Amino acid sequence: MINEKMEKAFNDQINKELYSEYLYLSMKAYFERLNLKGFVNWMNVQIQEEHAHGMGMFDYLHQRGGKVVLEAIDKPKSDWTSPLNCFEEILAHEEYVTSRINALLDVAEETKDRAATIFLNWYLKEQVEEEDSVGGVLASLKLIGDDKKALLMLDKELATRVFNPPVIG
Ligand code: FEO
Repeated sequence: MINEKMEKAFNDQINKELYSEYLYLSMKAYFERLNLKGFVNWMNVQIQEEHAHGMGMFDYLHQRGGKVVLEAIDKPKSDWTSPLNCFEEILAHEEYVTSRINALLDVAEETKDRAATIFLNWYLKEQVEEEDSVGGVLASLKLIGDDKKALLMLDKELATRVFNPPVIG
């Protein structure tokens, strides 16, 4: 049976992962408006990943005999000033998520929940990949500046991203 404090931390994080899904859905709508279909595809993959992250914790809580309590999901913003501005915010968001996963690991350590530590290590590794992937797109956008042709080339590249359902834990 999972400890109450750990259970609460997992429930908070389920909410944050589902908020992430919602945020990327809003960003997908932004890129639809810009008609940048490769970016739309990138967001699609991200949306599915965030859903999988949330559901991974949802399933894990049940496996541990815990109770899932869903809270309201915050309203994401719907406008950004440029693709660069959008990806700057994504990186900041993913860094925040990484800090939350670290906070969950602190609770696992404090409550001596070794099983949760092992489970959460997967999420920590995933965050390293997330920050790296977002940082890559951000670096390209900085290089591109106002060059519309280069932006369309990046859009083509992002159209090739595919969702591979993660094996969590
Ligand atoms: Fe679920 Fe993007 O972290």
